[in-house]
Amino acid sequence: MAVLEVENLKTYYYLGKESVKAVDGVSFKIEAKETLGLAGESGCGKTTTAYSIMRLLPENGRIVQGTIRLGDEEITALSEEEIRYLRWRKASIIFQYAMNAFNPVLRIGAQIVEVIREKEGVSKEEARATVSDLFDEVGLEPKRQRDYPHEFSGGMLQRAIIAQSLACDPMLVIADEPVTALDVIVQNKILDLLRKLQEKYELAVLFITHDLSVVAENCHNVGIMYAGNLVEVGSAKAVFKHNLHPYTSKLIGAFPSVIGEKKRLQFIPGTPPNLLNPPAGCRFHPRCPYAQDICKEKEPMYREIKQGHYAKCHFAGELSFEVIE
Ligand SMILES: Nc1ncnc2c1ncn2[C@@H]1O[C@H](COP(=O)(O)OP(=O)(O)OP(=O)(O)O)[C@@H](O)[C@H]1O
Ligand code: SF4
Ligand SMILES: [Mg+2]
Repeated sequence: MAVLEVENLKTYYYLGKESVKAVDGVSFKIEAKETLGLAGESGCGKTTTAYSIMRLLPENGRIVQGTIRLGDEEITALSEEEIRYLRWRKASIIFQYAMNAFNPVLRIGAQIVEVIREKEGVSKEEARATVSDLFDEVGLEPKRQRDYPHEFSGGMLQRAIIAQSLACDPMLVIADEPVTALDVIVQNKILDLLRKLQEKYELAVLFITHDLSVVAENCHNVGIMYAGNLVEVGSAKAVFKHNLHPYTSKLIGAFPSVIGEKKRLQFIPGTPPNLLNPPAGCRFHPRCPYAQDICKEKEPMYREIKQGHYAKCHFAGELSFEVIE
């Protein structure tokens, strides 16, 4: 059974009478020991997908359709109390703006202790011992539990946040841009740590990033989002070498280091659409070099083109959208 299975998820933000269709019909699953990298331009709905799974949407955000299964539990209809029970125990999240994840006036260890005590109902001493073990695991000296957030460097804070995400032994960890704010050397160390912990604890990981080179090196499977839609999903190898969607090929072409050779970087003309009023038909049609009349009128189905390789394009599998070198 998949650890996470998302089926036709639609999450909208309401602004008066209008709605921002931030996630609009997204389906994917992640098995234990698997990392799905979710990539796409800013504003395409990656964080909204994560917040929907954690049921942490802001007040004007609502899941309007679809199902989210965490293990054997469908969670979209659970009450706030029921979901609080599952949060951290079944699924945890490393937030996009990690620097703000801890309260600046409380010691870091005490904040993690609180999470463990609330969830596991254990004594302070037991929780402190767990935090020491977790600190050790993520490469922090256990005595640094007593530090305040401002006494940690960015990399150390990220390690503490990873420790917190593992505190209640979840089966799914969502990491939303976990290394974006760090320099490259620290980034690599944190990515190595995440990989090591994932293997050790057999975690399912949803790894969100806009950086395709990070996806290529760290994820088994890849999901490419565009304007609230998941337009392609498959193994990293299939998506990077034999992509089935024009947007994926443009995105790969816009990154220098995914395939390795030196090449002229591509520019994706136009901008992503306004999700208050997205284009009819295929949302990518105003920017797509392969668009035909049908693309302006009919929304393409998200379908399996090759085994385990899905795409949402009328011509996926028929035309070749190879990355232009
Ligand atoms: N509270 C909100 N109210 C209205 N619209 C929102 C709200 N939060 C996000 N949005 C909009 O929803 C869309 C998806 O946003 P989201 O934060 O999920 O994107 P993202 O892919 O995580 O982007 P980034 O790469 O910049 O983090 C964007 O158009 C954004 O402006
Ligand atoms: S459906 Fe048409 S517009 Fe959309 S990606 Fe495919 S070819 Fe391009
Ligand atoms: Mg985001």
